Amino acid sequence: MKIYEQLLSDNKEWAKEQTERDPAFFQRLALLQSPEFLWIGCSDSRVPADKITGTQPGEIFVHRNIANMVVHTDLNLLSVLQYAVEVLKVKHIIVCGHYGCGGIKAAMTQHSFGIINKWLRNIKDVYRIHKEEVDQLPDEDSRADRLTELNVIEQVYNLAKTSIVQSAWKHDNRPDLHGWVYGLKDGIIHPVFELPANSPIDPFYTYDNL
Ligand code: CO
Repeated sequence: MKIYEQLLSDNKEWAKEQTERDPAFFQRLALLQSPEFLWIGCSDSRVPADKITGTQPGEIFVHRNIANMVVHTDLNLLSVLQYAVEVLKVKHIIVCGHYGCGGIKAAMTQHSFGIINKWLRNIKDVYRIHKEEVDQLPDEDSRADRLTELNVIEQVYNLAKTSIVQSAWKHDNRPDLHGWVYGLKDGIIHPVFELPANSPIDPFYTYDNL
Protein backbone atom coordinates (compact mmCIF):
# COMPACT_ATOMS: atom_id res chain seq x y z
CA MET A 1 0.00 0.00 0.00
CA LYS A 2 1.31 3.44 -0.92
CA ILE A 3 1.68 5.83 1.99
CA TYR A 4 -1.17 8.11 0.88
CA GLU A 5 -3.47 5.11 0.42
CA GLN A 6 -3.13 4.51 4.14
CA LEU A 7 -4.93 7.83 4.69
CA LEU A 8 -7.86 6.70 2.58
CA SER A 9 -8.13 3.37 4.32
CA ASP A 10 -7.88 4.99 7.76
CA ASN A 11 -10.62 7.39 6.68
CA LYS A 12 -12.96 4.48 5.88
CA GLU A 13 -12.20 2.96 9.25
CA TRP A 14 -12.91 6.26 11.01
CA ALA A 15 -16.21 6.82 9.17
CA LYS A 16 -17.29 3.30 10.08
CA GLU A 17 -16.48 3.75 13.77
CA GLN A 18 -18.19 7.11 13.85
CA THR A 19 -21.37 5.67 12.30
CA GLU A 20 -21.35 2.72 14.69
CA ARG A 21 -21.12 5.07 17.66
CA ASP A 22 -23.74 7.49 16.35
CA PRO A 23 -25.74 6.33 13.29
CA ALA A 24 -27.14 9.83 12.59
CA PHE A 25 -23.75 11.57 12.95
CA PHE A 26 -23.04 12.32 9.30
CA GLN A 27 -26.66 13.06 8.32
CA ARG A 28 -26.85 15.61 11.13
CA LEU A 29 -23.55 17.28 10.29
CA ALA A 30 -24.33 17.37 6.59
CA LEU A 31 -27.33 19.57 7.31
CA LEU A 32 -25.56 22.27 9.28
CA GLN A 33 -22.54 23.33 11.29
CA SER A 34 -22.87 25.53 14.34
CA PRO A 35 -19.42 25.80 15.88
CA GLU A 36 -18.98 28.13 18.85
CA PHE A 37 -15.27 28.61 18.22
CA LEU A 38 -13.05 30.03 15.53
CA TRP A 39 -9.51 28.72 15.85
CA ILE A 40 -6.62 30.60 14.28
CA GLY A 41 -3.59 28.37 14.64
CA CYS A 42 -0.22 27.53 13.15
CA SER A 43 -0.04 25.23 10.13
CA ASP A 44 2.46 23.05 12.02
CA SER A 45 1.41 19.40 11.69
CA ARG A 46 2.02 18.87 15.40
CA VAL A 47 -0.74 21.28 16.45
CA PRO A 48 -4.04 19.87 15.14
CA ALA A 49 -6.82 22.09 16.49
CA ASP A 50 -9.49 19.43 17.02
CA LYS A 51 -7.21 16.70 18.40
CA ILE A 52 -5.58 18.86 21.08
CA THR A 53 -8.88 20.37 22.20
CA GLY A 54 -10.85 17.13 22.05
CA THR A 55 -13.43 18.76 19.79
CA GLN A 56 -15.55 16.79 17.33
CA PRO A 57 -16.41 17.59 13.70
CA GLY A 58 -18.83 20.53 13.71
CA GLU A 59 -17.50 22.10 16.91
CA ILE A 60 -14.59 24.25 15.76
CA PHE A 61 -14.11 26.43 12.67
CA VAL A 62 -10.45 26.49 11.71
CA HIS A 63 -8.00 28.77 9.94
CA ARG A 64 -4.31 27.93 10.00
CA ASN A 65 -1.28 29.69 8.60
CA ILE A 66 2.42 29.95 9.42
CA ALA A 67 2.75 31.27 12.99
CA ASN A 68 -1.00 31.91 13.45
CA MET A 69 -0.98 35.45 12.11
CA VAL A 70 -3.87 37.89 11.78
CA VAL A 71 -2.72 40.08 8.91
CA HIS A 72 -5.18 42.83 8.06
CA THR A 73 -4.63 42.53 4.30
CA ASP A 74 -4.97 38.73 4.23
CA LEU A 75 -8.19 38.08 2.30
CA ASN A 76 -8.15 34.43 3.25
CA LEU A 77 -8.05 35.14 6.99
CA LEU A 78 -10.54 38.01 6.69
CA SER A 79 -13.01 35.87 4.74
CA VAL A 80 -12.81 33.13 7.35
CA LEU A 81 -13.18 35.71 10.11
CA GLN A 82 -16.18 37.40 8.52
CA TYR A 83 -17.95 34.10 7.86
CA ALA A 84 -17.26 32.82 11.37
CA VAL A 85 -18.38 36.03 13.08
CA GLU A 86 -21.29 37.14 10.89
CA VAL A 87 -22.78 33.87 9.65
CA LEU A 88 -21.74 31.19 12.14
CA LYS A 89 -21.89 33.73 14.98
CA VAL A 90 -19.05 32.16 16.94
CA LYS A 91 -18.80 33.16 20.60
CA HIS A 92 -15.05 32.76 20.95
CA ILE A 93 -12.03 33.30 18.72
CA ILE A 94 -8.86 31.56 19.80
CA VAL A 95 -5.45 32.51 18.45
CA CYS A 96 -3.23 29.58 19.37
CA GLY A 97 0.53 29.71 18.91
CA HIS A 98 2.95 27.04 20.01
CA TYR A 99 6.34 26.90 21.66
CA GLY A 100 9.07 25.77 19.27
CA CYS A 101 7.35 27.50 16.31
CA GLY A 102 9.57 27.41 13.23
CA GLY A 103 7.94 30.54 11.82
CA ILE A 104 8.80 32.55 14.93
CA LYS A 105 12.37 31.20 14.97
CA ALA A 106 12.85 31.97 11.28
CA ALA A 107 11.61 35.54 11.75
CA MET A 108 14.22 36.07 14.47
CA THR A 109 17.07 35.27 12.09
CA GLN A 110 18.53 37.40 9.32
CA HIS A 111 18.22 34.62 6.73
CA SER A 112 16.28 35.13 3.52
CA PHE A 113 13.72 32.37 2.87
CA GLY A 114 12.31 33.65 -0.41
CA ILE A 115 8.66 34.53 -0.70
CA ILE A 116 8.02 33.55 2.90
CA ASN A 117 10.06 36.63 3.91
CA LYS A 118 6.95 38.69 3.24
CA TRP A 119 4.96 36.66 5.73
CA LEU A 120 7.74 36.56 8.33
CA ARG A 121 8.01 40.33 8.06
CA ASN A 122 4.79 40.58 10.07
CA ILE A 123 6.47 38.65 12.89
CA LYS A 124 9.60 40.79 12.65
CA ASP A 125 7.39 43.82 13.24
CA VAL A 126 6.12 42.24 16.47
CA TYR A 127 9.72 41.46 17.47
CA ARG A 128 10.72 45.08 16.86
CA ILE A 129 8.01 46.35 19.22
CA HIS A 130 9.13 44.01 22.03
CA LYS A 131 12.83 43.67 21.21
CA GLU A 132 14.07 45.05 24.52
CA GLU A 133 12.05 42.58 26.59
CA VAL A 134 12.79 39.58 24.37
CA ASP A 135 16.51 40.21 23.93
CA GLN A 136 17.25 40.26 27.64
CA LEU A 137 16.27 36.60 27.98
CA PRO A 138 19.27 34.27 28.33
CA ASP A 139 19.00 31.88 25.38
CA GLU A 140 17.55 31.47 21.91
CA ASP A 141 14.76 29.09 22.96
CA SER A 142 13.43 31.30 25.75
CA ARG A 143 13.58 34.33 23.46
CA ALA A 144 11.59 32.48 20.79
CA ASP A 145 9.09 31.23 23.37
CA ARG A 146 8.52 34.73 24.74
CA LEU A 147 8.10 36.13 21.24
CA THR A 148 5.58 33.36 20.58
CA GLU A 149 3.52 34.60 23.55
CA LEU A 150 3.87 38.26 22.58
CA ASN A 151 2.97 37.43 19.00
CA VAL A 152 -0.25 35.72 20.08
CA ILE A 153 -1.18 38.81 22.13
CA GLU A 154 -0.46 41.05 19.14
CA GLN A 155 -2.62 38.89 16.86
CA VAL A 156 -5.51 39.05 19.34
CA TYR A 157 -5.24 42.84 19.19
CA ASN A 158 -5.16 42.62 15.40
CA LEU A 159 -8.51 40.82 15.55
CA ALA A 160 -9.91 43.55 17.81
CA LYS A 161 -8.77 46.18 15.30
CA THR A 162 -10.96 44.75 12.52
CA SER A 163 -14.35 46.29 11.76
CA ILE A 164 -15.71 42.71 11.66
CA VAL A 165 -14.96 42.09 15.33
CA GLN A 166 -15.80 45.64 16.44
CA SER A 167 -19.20 45.49 14.76
CA ALA A 168 -20.04 42.16 16.44
CA TRP A 169 -18.86 43.54 19.77
CA LYS A 170 -21.10 46.57 19.41
CA HIS A 171 -24.24 44.84 18.18
CA ASP A 172 -23.98 41.38 19.72
CA ASN A 173 -21.51 41.60 22.64
CA ARG A 174 -19.39 38.75 21.22
CA PRO A 175 -16.98 37.18 20.40
CA ASP A 176 -14.51 36.99 23.25
CA LEU A 177 -10.92 36.82 22.02
CA HIS A 178 -8.35 34.45 23.50
CA GLY A 179 -4.58 34.12 23.09
CA TRP A 180 -3.22 30.66 23.86
CA VAL A 181 0.12 28.91 23.45
CA TYR A 182 0.43 25.13 23.04
CA GLY A 183 3.40 23.23 24.42
CA LEU A 184 4.81 20.69 21.97
CA LYS A 185 6.69 18.99 24.79
CA ASP A 186 3.75 18.29 27.09
CA GLY A 187 0.62 18.77 24.96
CA ILE A 188 -0.73 21.43 27.33
CA ILE A 189 -2.33 24.68 26.14
CA HIS A 190 -1.39 27.76 28.17
CA PRO A 191 -3.83 30.69 28.10
CA VAL A 192 -1.70 33.86 27.94
CA PHE A 193 -4.16 36.63 27.12
CA GLU A 194 -7.87 37.40 26.94
CA LEU A 195 -9.80 40.24 25.39
CA PRO A 196 -13.50 39.84 26.26
CA ALA A 197 -16.06 41.45 23.95
CA ASN A 198 -16.13 45.24 24.22
CA SER A 199 -12.77 45.51 25.95
CA PRO A 200 -11.32 48.98 25.44
CA ILE A 201 -8.63 49.15 22.76
CA ASP A 202 -6.56 52.04 21.45
CA PRO A 203 -9.16 54.61 20.24
CA PHE A 204 -7.00 55.23 17.19
CA TYR A 205 -8.03 51.79 15.93
CA THR A 206 -11.69 52.07 16.96
CA TYR A 207 -14.24 52.74 14.21
CA ASP A 208 -17.03 55.15 15.18
CA ASN A 209 -19.54 54.43 12.43
CA LEU A 210 -20.24 50.69 12.70
CO1 CO B 1 4.43 27.14 14.17
